[in-house]
Amino acid sequence: AGPCDIYSSGGTPCVAAHSTTRALYSAFSGALYQVKRGSDGATTTISPVSAGGVANAAAQDTFCASTTCLITIIYDQSGRGNHLTQAPPGGFSGPEANGYDNLASAIGAPVTLNGAKAYGVFISPGTGYRNNAVSGTATGDASEGMYAVLDGTHYNGGCCFDYGNAETSSTDTGNGHMEAIYYGDNTVWGTGSGSGPWFMADLENGLFSGASSGQNTADPSLSYRFLTAALKGGQNVWALRGGNSASGSLSTYYNGARPSASGYNPMSKEGAIILGIGGDNSVGAQGTFYEGVMTTGYPSDATENSVQANIVAAKYATTSLTSGPALTVGSSISLRATTSGYTDRYLAHTGATVNTQVVTSASSTTLKQQASWKVRTGLGNSGCFSFESTDTSGSYLRHYNFELQVAASDGTKQFNEDATFCPHTGLNGQGNSILAWGYPTRFIRHYNNVGYAASNGGVHTFDSATSFNDDVSWVVGTSFA
Ligand code: AHR
Ligand code: AHR
Ligand code: AHR
Repeated sequence: AGPCDIYSSGGTPCVAAHSTTRALYSAFSGALYQVKRGSDGATTTISPVSAGGVANAAAQDTFCASTTCLITIIYDQSGRGNHLTQAPPGGFSGPEANGYDNLASAIGAPVTLNGAKAYGVFISPGTGYRNNAVSGTATGDASEGMYAVLDGTHYNGGCCFDYGNAETSSTDTGNGHMEAIYYGDNTVWGTGSGSGPWFMADLENGLFSGASSGQNTADPSLSYRFLTAALKGGQNVWALRGGNSASGSLSTYYNGARPSASGYNPMSKEGAIILGIGGDNSVGAQGTFYEGVMTTGYPSDATENSVQANIVAAKYATTSLTSGPALTVGSSISLRATTSGYTDRYLAHTGATVNTQVVTSASSTTLKQQASWKVRTGLGNSGCFSFESTDTSGSYLRHYNFELQVAASDGTKQFNEDATFCPHTGLNGQGNSILAWGYPTRFIRHYNNVGYAASNGGVHTFDSATSFNDDVSWVVGTSFA
């Protein structure tokens, strides 16, 4: 059985079921998600390898070979058509054209399930999915349940990495107009014990983990690589339950009355579905989503426990974040451009500015050092790499506003993540194309001989699709200095 078969047996069937990694019904063999590739704008759907099985990641890899791919649709497996697509602007606008949010990279969150490769949905700040024209989700004070499997190590304090029930207008229509899973270390409205991150409920104008806003120490800081977060709400009752998706059972972090502040009892749920954003399209958050559902009716603890056992049996595990020619931690390297007409140029820096420079064996020692990088274990993720400046130890290649810089480490989580890059097989067939870990739609690119973290055809000038594959492909060589 799949999670939604279990919810059905419990009398609280799924009304929405989303996953890019696997079928959530044992009989489901339809489309899990759609991807769109950068080379020609073509789309394809990815289905389970067999009914009830894991997504056919190999089909995605073939379709997306030598180009970029975005996740354009996350299909609803429940049959109700509650698909998730690129979120439109609301109270806040997204960074994409016309205020839409960004779409997620199709390769940002590779995992295995029982040994078979699949891809989750890696949400960077600015990325979001939504459905404001839903069928069958809870409205008003009606009961519902939901769960999601998330990456417990991918989070931030921005508002709001959510999955669940939100406003159909994409605007903040008041307290009690949302009921969604939240994950992160935002401290504006509420906190749990420790320094976070926490699983909380986004009930609109507040992230709650107990009967009141503010701190609820029964809600623990979490660090599971794979996190099961289960939220349910009924008439003056709601519960937060969570656990390790890879083993063990769910713990109850809260089970009790609705918040006493005005507007949360009764609730005024609207039934739209969000992923990766707040109810009003707040787009500051990051996180990773693998699978999740929403039900009609208030699921029993026993039903949720069976769903957790099903998730554990799916055996989520990590896999390599890199591909292509291997980099060696501790080595010193150069990165040569491969765009025709620029192949004598290397990734370098002039002060804080990252650029490409023509470098030869006859160049000055200063320039040779500026074009040489020390490979370090990724400051923000040990599965990827950071590049330390050869002439300025303690300074690293990072992106800021998607421009590459060389900057001194300030030791913050933000710096570490901005300074972490994941090499892949070069998109033009040469060397490596190097993803920004926190923005896996974006690669190290030269544009007008300046360095950027660029997406293929995005809104910035430096995102130009012209010559993208060449501009993001670099041959790694021994360093000049
Ligand atoms: O409740 C927290 C956030 O507040 C909601 O997600 C958003 O709609 C509002 O800004
Ligand atoms: O480069 C994109 C973002 O810009 C970085 O993650 C952040 O540090 C800055 O605001
Ligand atoms: O960075 C040099 C060139 O500048 C790139 O190849 C091109 O995309 C841009 O015009």
